[in-house]
Amino acid sequence: MLVNAKEMLLTARKEGYAVGQFNINNLEWTKAILETAQENNSPVILGVSAGAGKYMGGFKVVVGMVNGMLEAMNITVPVALHLDHGTYEQAIECMEAGFSSVMFDGSHYEIDENVSKTKEIIALAAKQDISVEAEVGSIGGEEDGVTGTGEVADAAECKLIADLGVDMLAAGIGNIHGQYPENWQGLSFDALAAIQGSTGGMPLVLHGGTGIPAEMVQKAISLGVSKVNVNTECQLTFTAATRIYFEEGKDKVGKGFDPRKVLAPGVVAIKETVKEKMEMFGSINKA
Ligand code: 13P
Repeated sequence: MLVNAKEMLLTARKEGYAVGQFNINNLEWTKAILETAQENNSPVILGVSAGAGKYMGGFKVVVGMVNGMLEAMNITVPVALHLDHGTYEQAIECMEAGFSSVMFDGSHYEIDENVSKTKEIIALAAKQDISVEAEVGSIGGEEDGVTGTGEVADAAECKLIADLGVDMLAAGIGNIHGQYPENWQGLSFDALAAIQGSTGGMPLVLHGGTGIPAEMVQKAISLGVSKVNVNTECQLTFTAATRIYFEEGKDKVGKGFDPRKVLAPGVVAIKETVKEKMEMFGSINKA
């Protein structure tokens, strides 16, 4: 059964580790991530962007697929199904479809509007025991065609949103989605410490988990980050493994053209990446 992300993140915050949010794109991704979480006895959050949801046939299809897998694969570790960077309307749609957690990203609104819309989402979610993530200070990079500028969030604005009763807060601290450029300045730990100071025990979320060096991720966890989002890195390792399959001509041997065979090396690669991240975040054996 899906659970909301509240308990798992509060425990992670208290015990000093983070739970990974791994974005899913299709059946193979979902199965690979669930298998890895179960094998490593780790809680996990499956992230679904609006674009990925649409690609998979809609949010209801995603809920049906994930619930089916939880049962068929005998998954016993805590799993949350979470909308990633949703609009107000998408957050409502996901709550109705059966997601156990939603992110309402109002970071592009003026703070007053972000506050009022986040408040409405929290009220709706509370009725269904669904956890809510909010965002302050737009996170840079490009995701599903939305480009943020990589702001550093204002600690006072973070407090305003945190005090509404969200379960987790994403705040920009120089992190961006996708691969980091050569001249990236790294995470702003001063900003993170100020945000932690203003938001108390609130679990903080680090987006753009791809390519952040392990020491930086672990320092961020020590400063209150309890959820780290990873998407691009699984895509890169999946694609690299698939490329090798074709380069080695394996599709031309026997039934190597069967999609189940074509996709298998990519699945192994996703599992390795997810396990590596779980080790880095400290969530192994925390289920
Ligand atoms: P990356 O694609 O950079 O790993 O970021 C994922 C993310 O933050 C999803 O919200």
